Amino acid sequence: MIVALIITLGLVGLIIFYARAFAAKKGRPPGPLPLPFLNHDYLAFGDMGENFLALHRKYGPVVEVRFLGKRTTSIADPDIFREASKNETVVWRPVFSEKGIRILDMHEKGLIMNNNTDLWKKSKHLFLAAVNSHDFLSRAVDDLNLVWEDQVLPKLVGSAKSGQVVVLRSVIGEFIVGFQEKSLFNQTAKIVIQGAAFHDTVAAFFRAWNFFLMIPEFLWDVVGNQAEHKAAIERFFEFERQTIQKRKAELDGLTPAEKAQAKDLIAVFFREGETFSKNSEFKDEVVTDENIRELVHEALLGSLDTSWNTLCMVIWHMAHNQDVQDKLRAEIREFLHRHPRVALSNINERLPYLEAVITEVLRYAPTANMVFKSVNKDTSLGGYQLDQGQTLFFHTEGITTNPKHFKSPEKFDPERFLSAKYGEVDHKIVFPFGQGRRICPGQSLGTIQLRYFIILFFSKFKITTAPGNPSKLKSKYEIIRAVHQDSTKVFVELA
Ligand code: HEM
Repeated sequence: MIVALIITLGLVGLIIFYARAFAAKKGRPPGPLPLPFLNHDYLAFGDMGENFLALHRKYGPVVEVRFLGKRTTSIADPDIFREASKNETVVWRPVFSEKGIRILDMHEKGLIMNNNTDLWKKSKHLFLAAVNSHDFLSRAVDDLNLVWEDQVLPKLVGSAKSGQVVVLRSVIGEFIVGFQEKSLFNQTAKIVIQGAAFHDTVAAFFRAWNFFLMIPEFLWDVVGNQAEHKAAIERFFEFERQTIQKRKAELDGLTPAEKAQAKDLIAVFFREGETFSKNSEFKDEVVTDENIRELVHEALLGSLDTSWNTLCMVIWHMAHNQDVQDKLRAEIREFLHRHPRVALSNINERLPYLEAVITEVLRYAPTANMVFKSVNKDTSLGGYQLDQGQTLFFHTEGITTNPKHFKSPEKFDPERFLSAKYGEVDHKIVFPFGQGRRICPGQSLGTIQLRYFIILFFSKFKITTAPGNPSKLKSKYEIIRAVHQDSTKVFVELA
């Protein structure tokens, strides 16, 4: 009797659930029906980027689901991307767990997850002034040169001579982390935090970041170790606080002329902060040690995995496309003939083939394949009504792998951006750095990191695939696309 009652109530509940789900779909974008209790949260498991891509392939360029407690519209349409970039109501980030954002200390701080529009605007102004300054970018190029010459080049020459398999993912990681140690934290030796290499502490922080940003709160104790992740976050913040305080004390002891020569990111942030404080009513909230710590921290988050994984993809493509590698090397050698030393004054010189290679790598499999936004006022996009607080995903890969926009999208061919080989191609629909007001503020530095490594590496070395390097790029979604180390297993020879 009781069992029959439970089954009947269960069935009635199910019918009501689906009746409401059908009703909610009226006039809204297409998408799969939700599962009871779980809605579409199952899309967060496995490869989230691929899961949403599969939905776009099935339902079209605009898809709607109920995800992590919010109405969520995923968009893979270049015209709607453009429309959204002009829409002032699509500038927030979705917050899936307020508690998670507070644990990560990102609530109304920094840029990435800051939804206080006024504070975000001021912080962005300060971030751009520091990260795009001539001082910092010239220091960045000098540090890239140092790390290349002292750490990376000797190792690669050794590998080339030994003829052994090299996993370039680790070498590229060393290159970027070495640069960050110098340019962001002004260290001359490798950083060690509580007995662990800097890189290991950052990697533990990234795991914690993914965990608190993307895993639904009710699963925290089921799928991971909250305490361990919190400890990883605190360890890294403590290092940043101490480093910033130490640097601040050093700067305070310098003469104004010496101070003006300091070009590491912490020094530049404090210098720009001083100018900024003079004309901003927000100085008490934005030019604070803690907000500057968060901004330095976000420069680290922003410049690590993005450039690292993009370079890993460049390696995979070049190892599998010898003709492209040869053409790239030829163009780079001509450039180095004109400029024997890479510097800020020449790194952005127009190199059409190099640019086409980078664009094609980012088209073939965008590093940031899904970009998250949230709607801060009821609005409409592409003819669809959107609600305040709902989530928007901009699925860049859904555009760049769609045959409607790029002919033979499965073919890696930089020529598509240089000639009309595949018909007309619009560079502007690749969107590797996002779009609109929240577009990546580290684009200049990111581009410099990519160009620098590619120029120096391919001018000296030739790579071929080593056993274990997969014929299909192996990567998985971790907020951005993380390339598996096997995809970077190569033989390195002196070119
Ligand atoms: C290849 C390198 C890079 C790629 C592909 C990349 C991509 C992106 C993308 C797609 C976004 C989201 C934009 C949007 O919401 O529309 C973003 C945001 C951001 N990026 Fe980058 N990025 C790169 C390098 C960097 C670097 C070097 C830095 C730091 C110096 C940086 C710092 C940031 C920050 C702070 C944000 C958040 C901006 C905000 O919410 O206002 N990125 N990036």
